[in-house]
This record gives sequence, structure tokens and C-alpha cells, in this order.
Amino acid sequence: MRKRILTIYLFTISCFGLSPVIGQTDKLIDKDVSIFYPAHYNAKENQPSFALLKEPKPMGNVPKNWKIKPDFYSKDGKTIVALPIAKGTDLYGTGENVGSLVRNGKKVTLWNTDNFRYLADKGKRLYQSHPWVLGVNKDGTAFGVIADNTWKQDIDLSDSIRFISDGPAFRVIVIQRNSPQEVIKELTKLIGRMEMPPLWSLGYQQCRFSYVPDTRIKSLADTFRLKKLPCDVIWMDIDYMERFKIFTFDKKNIPDPKGVNDYLHAKGFHSIWMIDPGVKVEKGYSVYESGSKGDHWVQTADHKEFNGKVWPGECAFPDFTRPETRTWWSGLYKDFMATGIDGVWNDMNEPSVFDGPNGSMPIDNWHRGGGNLPADVHLRYHDVYGMLMVKASREGILKANPDKRPFILSRSGYLGSNRYAATWTGDNTGNTDNMKLSIPMVLNLGLSGQAFSGPDLGGFALNTSADLFGQWIAMGTFFPFMRGHAAKGENNKEPWAFGTEIENVSRTALNRRYRLLPYFYTLFNEASKNGMPVMRPVFFADPKDTTLRKEQQTFLVGNDLLIIPKWAVNPIQPKGIWRIISIAGENSTTDKYQADVKLKGGAIIPLGNIIQNTTQFNLDSLTLMVSLDSNGKATGTMYEDAGDGFQYQHGAYLLSTFTAKQAGQKVEVKIAAKGGNLKPTGRKYKIIVVTDKGTVETGWTTDTKVSVKLPE
Ligand code: GLC
Repeated sequence: MRKRILTIYLFTISCFGLSPVIGQTDKLIDKDVSIFYPAHYNAKENQPSFALLKEPKPMGNVPKNWKIKPDFYSKDGKTIVALPIAKGTDLYGTGENVGSLVRNGKKVTLWNTDNFRYLADKGKRLYQSHPWVLGVNKDGTAFGVIADNTWKQDIDLSDSIRFISDGPAFRVIVIQRNSPQEVIKELTKLIGRMEMPPLWSLGYQQCRFSYVPDTRIKSLADTFRLKKLPCDVIWMDIDYMERFKIFTFDKKNIPDPKGVNDYLHAKGFHSIWMIDPGVKVEKGYSVYESGSKGDHWVQTADHKEFNGKVWPGECAFPDFTRPETRTWWSGLYKDFMATGIDGVWNDMNEPSVFDGPNGSMPIDNWHRGGGNLPADVHLRYHDVYGMLMVKASREGILKANPDKRPFILSRSGYLGSNRYAATWTGDNTGNTDNMKLSIPMVLNLGLSGQAFSGPDLGGFALNTSADLFGQWIAMGTFFPFMRGHAAKGENNKEPWAFGTEIENVSRTALNRRYRLLPYFYTLFNEASKNGMPVMRPVFFADPKDTTLRKEQQTFLVGNDLLIIPKWAVNPIQPKGIWRIISIAGENSTTDKYQADVKLKGGAIIPLGNIIQNTTQFNLDSLTLMVSLDSNGKATGTMYEDAGDGFQYQHGAYLLSTFTAKQAGQKVEVKIAAKGGNLKPTGRKYKIIVVTDKGTVETGWTTDTKVSVKLPE
């Protein structure tokens, strides 16, 4: 047996150029990062890694005092990795999941599933798979475990950390660090970080299944502008297509797609259009014809074209493991994007197959691979199907528009998909429970490397009440990805659909987001540099304070803003100074809907102006909101660049620092450039100092040193 393994192993090394693993059961691969191999590891069955950016290089032996060590074994035909956890350890991560923020005691199945309303299997398997667990020790130090495995698997956190796989033995990577933040930085160093998204994708976005015909899209856009409800993006769901055939436009509903995009652009909107993976099996349909000609389809176990039903009826599915197929797929975007489309929505990419087992493909379907990817069964490639799809989509979009930052929203994903696409939490329900659930869902995605996500605001399925919508948008305005959506047949869920009161609630919520854009953009830059999530759990304020570990009604945006939704009951708040602020003229303490926003003592945040969309975004007049700490000091930073394109990678950006220091009854505020080549000319500043005795505000000044008199 050993001899056979060795033969396979040597074969693997010679074919794929992989690094040796025999006799090497564990190695250090970075500072306080170790990789562990089971004895019978066969690289060909697991490599190249999908999660890791590059194949790890051993740099020494695992230190003797290494704490978190895995045990490898197999049982009942399953391969298992178990890692014991010390009492008092809180577990997080495991990607997209329903339920509590803390994952101790939970089980999830990593098998990407189209899970309408999270009903199948009680939501234990959802659209994405992140074989990743973050552990926070009692003393606030932390660790993380990556199972470098794409095969179907469960994560069982009943009393330890166990990855239980239907596939062959796999390796794990363990990170040990002083804080959860440091673990996330290392995780995203290993799996990669998102690139800077276009600024417009941080604005409010309106979707429904579906806005057709074109006249409805146009009047939707007009209504946002008429009602002065800020909005950046209008989404086109599947009904824009001709009988749900991807890369086509329905002649009746959308006779002139370029005209629709031009209209939206003229009004300061961007447009996102949906592309699913399923290609309708139809003679004469160009995508099916070219896909068949190139032999691009996933095959059945006996190597015939696999067909299954999705929206258009019987479909064939691109085999994205094939490099030729990815190239073909990328190429399809050229003409599509040429109609003026700004972003792409890749949906149904688990892949969802309505009449397939568990709503997907048979596990013995055949992927032919190529390049360094071996041919193998669907059981191995299912969870990375969507990731490979968005990788190819991104390449195509970038090729079509080389000077623009691509934006893709993907429903399915795997650990590392954040490199290619943002995500949303799939088909949720318009009820209070799902609204509240969206906080721990987005937090755990962030703690799994996916910083850019959000739920369908207002809820996708079922009708939503006015009150629920008001609560949801008031809270959702602080999520990284902010999009309202509604299923076919459900009530209208635009901000004005629930009457004047909720329209006003929505306007205030949106104004708050748009004023905060300089702060959000700075956080997205941070996420792109070190992987820190935009939306953070409250325990990030003090990982040593174990009372914060379970808090999931409230959350942090960056380090400096604490968001407390109106419905939160006795939330646990971090210690220290946190002062309620007004961002867009609202008084959240008396408001029925607007979340309380508290600014941390010691922080300075930048606020822009109320604008209707990001084409109006400018920082000519910038407000700095200051909250001093107990030593009378505060600091902040701001990142800015052109908001699109890639010049920022060549120095066309500006990183500013703000410092404030109290001297007697005065606060001296200084603004300085810290990095980048951009130089603002004639920028006006206004300083607002929030104190326990009230707020003081200066007039506009171009000075970069400002003195503010505090209230007596
Ligand atoms: C899926 C998506 C949903 C979309 C619908 C129609 O259910 O999750 O967002 O509206 O398909 O395309």
C-alpha cells in the first residue's frame, strides 16, 4: 500500500511540479503559520489549492510549543481532521451560515446549495463554502484553521473543530496570533484580498425580480431622482433576457439595451445585469452552439453532455475547470459589456439544477480540468464551480473594459472567492428574524475573508411590512453591500413603496450612508490591503473582553463606529467612550427607526456631503467629526482616489491623517498628507467636535490647522 502511495505521489510531483510531502507531516510556512499533512496525503487529489493564492513554501519546523495541532483519521469512509479546543474558546467563521455569530456547537455542510428562504436542511448548507474556523481564546489571543479541501465536507463544532470529508485525506493550515484581527490579516494574506471596487458599488442599489420592460426601468430611475433618494445602481434580473437565455436581450421588453444603459448613465446610475451559468439547450442559440462546438460542457459519469433544468428549461453547464472553457466564457462578455453594462451578477452558480439531486448536479458528473487542474468528479469541484465561474467572468469583464474596476456579485463562493466577487446572502425572507439574522451572517462572512457582502434589504421572499422595511433599511445602510431586492410576485420594496413615513426614513438612512462614503471607502481600502472586514463584530473593540463575544444585535463599521439598531434589546457595548453622533441631521435618540451611531472616543471620521449618487462625489468640502479620548486626543485617516480605474496602483491616491489634541479649552486639529501623489487644491474643512457637553462646530476653512473652542 505504502509503495503504491509513493508511486502515485512521485507521479504527482513529476506531473504537477508540486513540493514533496513524504516524511513531512508538518512545516512552518510563515511566522506562526503551520501546515499539517496526513500520512496518506496525495497531492494530486487536492492540489492545486483553490483557497490559497500560492503553494506554501516550508520555512522551518513547527515550534515545539505549537498549541493547535490536528489529528487525522478516517472513519466510515470519511476522512476527518480534528482539532481540540480549550475551554472558553469562542469559534467564528465557517463562512455563510444561519444562526448565531458564535459557532460553538454548530454543524454546517459545505455543499453549495440554492437554498430558497434557507429552508432546505434547516439552512445548514447555503450558497457558499468556507472551510475555515476562527477561534478566539479566553485571553483574546486567537487562531484559525483552513481545511485545504474542496471535496464535500462538514464542519462539526459540537465539542471540538472537526472537518469531515467525503473526499480523500487533505491538509490543514493553522494560524496562531495575538488577536483575531491578526488572524484575519494572515488568513487574507494566504487566500488573497479583494481589489479596490469601484466607488459606485458602495452606493445604494435597487433590484427586483425583475424590472421590465425598459419603460419601468427608466421610471424607476426617474423616481429616485425626483424623490431625492440617493441611489447608484439599477439591477436587471433574468426577465431582461429572451426566454432566460444568457447573453441575449428580450426584443419586446428591452429592444434597446444600450439605450437603457445610456439613459441610466445620463442620470448618474450604473447598471448591473444578470448572467447565470446554465446555457439553454437550443439549436441555433449562439451561446449553446459555440459552447457545443468548443466541447465546453460538464459531462455525465459516462462522458456525455450533462443537461438539467434551470430557468430557461433544459440547460448545459460550462465546465469551468477547463482553461479553454474559461477563455470562451470570458470572451462572451465582450459584446455584452459593449452595450454599456457596468457590472455583472453571476447567480445560480452553486450550480443550481432544479431537477438534479439536492438541487444540483450528480456528484459523479465529470469535469475534465486542464492546465494544472486534474480531471475529476463533481464531488471534488462542486464547491468551487461558482468561484471558477466568477474568475472567468472577471477576466472577461476586465478585458472588455480594461480601464474600469470590474464589479461582480456572485451567489455561490468558496474560501478565496473574495478575490473575484462580492456576495450577498441569497434568497432570504421578509421577516424580522431574517432581518436580525443578516448581522451575524455578514459578520461571519467578513470573518471568513469576504469583506464585501450584504443581505437582500427588505427581504427577498414574502411581502414586507412598512415597519420591517423601515427597520431594515435604517440598519442596512451600514452594511458593506447595500441592495434592496424583491422576489417575483412579492410587494414593491422600493424606499417609497410603503408610504411617506418610510420614504422619509429611507431618505435619512441613505443620506447617512452617502455622507459616510469617505469613511466606507477608506475601510474598503483597508480590506483590500489587509483583509480587515468593513463590518466587524463588537468583540473586535476588545477581544479580551469575553462579555462582547456573543454580541450580534449590534456591530462595528471599521473600528470607530458602533451601530445599534433600534430593535436591539440590551446590547452589550464595548467599554470606553462611545458618543452618539448625528450624521445627516437626524436625532437617533428620538427617532423610531434610525440606528444609534456611536463614535469612539479617540477617533476622527471624515464625512462627505449629501449627494444623490457617486458621480457627484467630491471632497472639496470635507467634515471631520472628532471624539476625544480620555487623554484629550483623537486620530483618523482617509483614503481617496479616482473611484474607478487603476491609476491608484501607480500612486494616484491620497492618504490623509487627522489628529486632534486638547490644550485647555481648545482642541487643535491638524490635517496632513501621509501617502500617495494626489494633492487636493483649495479643500475646505469643517470640524465638529462631539463632547459630553454637546457638539461644537467650526465654519468652513481651507486651513489644515484648526483650533476649536470647547464648550465650558
Ligand atoms: C435567484 C436569486 C434571486 C433572483 C432570482 C431570479 O433566486 O437568488 O436573487 O432574483 O434567482 O433571477
